[in-house]
Amino acid sequence: MIDKETLAAWDKRYLWHPFTQMQDWLAEAPVIIACGEGCYLIDVDGNRYIDGVASMWTSVHGHNHPELNTALKTQVDKVAHSTLLGYSNIPAIELAKKLVELTPVGLNKVFYSDNGSTAVEIALKMVYQYWQHRGEPQRKLFVHFDKAYHGDTIGAMSVGGIDSFHATFDSLLFKGLRVSAPETYRSRHTNDSVIKTQWLNAVENVLSTHSGQIAGIILEPLIQGAGGMLLSPRGFLKELSALAKQWKTLLIVDEVMTGFGRTGKMWACEHEAVTPDLLCTAKGLAAGYLPLAATLATDEIYNAFLGEYKDLKTFFHGHTFTGNPLACAVALENIAIFERENLLSRLQPTIEHFKNRLQEFYRLSHVSDVRVCGLAAGIDLMKNPDTHTPYPFEEKVGIRVCKEALTRGALLRPLVNTIVLMPPLQVSISALDALLDIAYASIETVC
Ligand SMILES: Cc1ncc(COP(=O)(O)O)c(C=O)c1O
Repeated sequence: MIDKETLAAWDKRYLWHPFTQMQDWLAEAPVIIACGEGCYLIDVDGNRYIDGVASMWTSVHGHNHPELNTALKTQVDKVAHSTLLGYSNIPAIELAKKLVELTPVGLNKVFYSDNGSTAVEIALKMVYQYWQHRGEPQRKLFVHFDKAYHGDTIGAMSVGGIDSFHATFDSLLFKGLRVSAPETYRSRHTNDSVIKTQWLNAVENVLSTHSGQIAGIILEPLIQGAGGMLLSPRGFLKELSALAKQWKTLLIVDEVMTGFGRTGKMWACEHEAVTPDLLCTAKGLAAGYLPLAATLATDEIYNAFLGEYKDLKTFFHGHTFTGNPLACAVALENIAIFERENLLSRLQPTIEHFKNRLQEFYRLSHVSDVRVCGLAAGIDLMKNPDTHTPYPFEEKVGIRVCKEALTRGALLRPLVNTIVLMPPLQVSISALDALLDIAYASIETVC
C-alpha cells in the first residue's frame, strides 16, 4: 500500500487534471479518493463525503453497488473486450435492443462510442453525411445555442456556446448558427411563455434565413448543464421539434447529462413527448461505472446509409472500444435495477423534497437564483443580487464554497459562481438533507 504523501507527490508530479488550473492545484493538498459506498466517497484518510455531483453527473445507483459489481465481474470472466468492427458481442446486442425499447418510439438504431463528446460527434457526422446521401449536400449548417455544452472534441465544441471554454479554439471550429436566448432569460421574473416565444422566433428567423442549408439543430433538452444549469421554458423543446419538422431539418437531442432519470423521467424529451431524429446518451448509461456512450438514430437516417459496398455510403466512423462488453454488461444491469426497483416512481418524492428544500436558499442574501430540474440544481451566487452585480471571477467564490463544503463532508464542483447539486439518484432523503445543509452552511460562511 502506497502512503498518501507519496500518492499526493506522484499526483502533482505526473498528473494533469481536466478543467483545472494546475498552478492552483499544485499549491494544495489533493483529495484522493480510495473507495466509494452508496452516495459516499471515502478518501485515503478515511474521510467520508457525500458525492454531491454524482462523480461528474454519472453515478445513478451510487458507488460500489453490489449488483453492478456482480454484472461487471460476471462479464470479465467471459471476455473484457471484443471489437464491433466486423464482429459482434452479446452484451452490445442485448443493450442495443434494450435502449431502443427504452428511448422514444422511432429511435431504432444504436451506434456506440465511449463518452458524451463522441456521442455528439457521431450525431453531427451522421446528420452531415445523411444529407449527402439524400441528395441535399448543401445542408451543412448546424443550429446550436448560446451557453450550450456538448463536449470538448472539435465538432462538439463547434456547436457549443461557452466562450470561456471554446473561444481559444475558434479558428479550429466549424461555423454554425448560434442562437442566443432573449435578454430577459436569466431573470426569473419574466414570464416563461414570453421568453419561449421570443426564443423560438429567433430560431425560426435563422431557419428561414438559411432555408435549405441547415443540416440539424442540436440542444440539451430542458436544462443546459455546464452552461450554468439553465432551464429552458416549458414547451420550448416541443415547439422547437415542430419547427425542425416544418423546416425539414433534423433534431439532435443531447441527453448526455439529462438521460437516465436525472430529470425525473428516463429521458428529458419525454417531458414534452418529443421524439428527436437522434439522441445522444453517455454519463449515466453505464451508471457511472465505465465510459460508454450511444447515439440513437431513426430508421430514416440509418436507411439512407444503405447501399452497395462500392457506393461508399458506409458511415466511416468507429472507436476501438465501441460496444465494449464490460461497459454494456454494466449498462444492462443499470437498466435492470431501474426496472426491478421501479426507480423512476420511487424518485418522485425525493425530487419533490429536493425542490422544496432548495427554496430555503433564497434566504441567503447572496443567492440570486435557484434552478432545479429533477435531481439537478444550480444555485447562483452574486455579490449583489439586487443590482445584478456578479462576484469578480478572480474571487473564485464558487470554488471557495466547494472547498468549505469539503470540510463539512460533501464533494461539490461549481460552474464558476453557480453551485451545482446533483447527487446519485439513489440518494436517501437523510443524505440529501445533509447535502443541502452543507451547501447552505458553506454558502453562508463564504459569502
Ligand atoms: C450535455 C452534455 N453533452 C456532452 C458532454 C460531454 O461528455 P463527456 O465529458 O463524456 O465527453 C457533457 C459533459 O458534461 C454534457 O453535459
